[in-house]
Amino acid sequence: MKRVIAIDGPAGAGKSTVAKIAAEKLGYTYIDTGAMYRGVAWKTLREEGDTSDAAILRAVRDIDVRLACTESGTRVTVDGTDVTSEIRTPEVTHIVSRVAALAPVREKMVELQRVMARDGAVVMDGRDIGTNVLPDADVKIFLTASVEERARRRYEEMKEKGYAVDFDELKGEIASRDKQDSERAISPLRRADDAVLLDTTALSIDDVVARILELCE
Ligand code: C5P
Repeated sequence: MKRVIAIDGPAGAGKSTVAKIAAEKLGYTYIDTGAMYRGVAWKTLREEGDTSDAAILRAVRDIDVRLACTESGTRVTVDGTDVTSEIRTPEVTHIVSRVAALAPVREKMVELQRVMARDGAVVMDGRDIGTNVLPDADVKIFLTASVEERARRRYEEMKEKGYAVDFDELKGEIASRDKQDSERAISPLRRADDAVLLDTTALSIDDVVARILELCE
């Protein structure tokens, strides 16, 4: 059976790490919807020079965002340019929640996401997958962890990638992004009524993956 698995939660809860592993184990495609919003943010910074709403809307108008699953992970292209690493910079992270709050941006990304999930056998992660993009998903999971732990994980990840980051700044940025994502008018970050809540603060990656696979059985 080709199921559809929706994983939502705040920044740094470990969604992409566990979603990727679970998808691999199930032989499913992993779809990172955050990367798509990051792609729009990247194009705005790159082509518009300003980040006003009008600039964001110009950037999204005829954007071509694609995700490709490869052995080394998801590759992201925007209008044919590989932006896999560029969409993770602090500059993109800084504006992405504002970009993702705009209706035309969401409409376009959600439409693409639904097409990608049409044939099933997908694990999709994001903020509104269980509530809005795929309300009929077979399995819905809402992953959380304390803000301290989520900041610690992001700090390690960014340090590994060679970015000079300050822990408190990172924690502030995560808290601010969560606030913007939870308080926006359209499809805010929230747990779907039928999603299983998993607090990963004290769980290992293996524990979380095992629990997700159990729910898929
Ligand atoms: O998952 P990631 O942290 O890369 O997502 C970046 C941003 O994209 C989030 O903070 C949120 O503003 C937005 N997003 C969204 N809906 C999704 C996925 C991401 O609004 N389904």
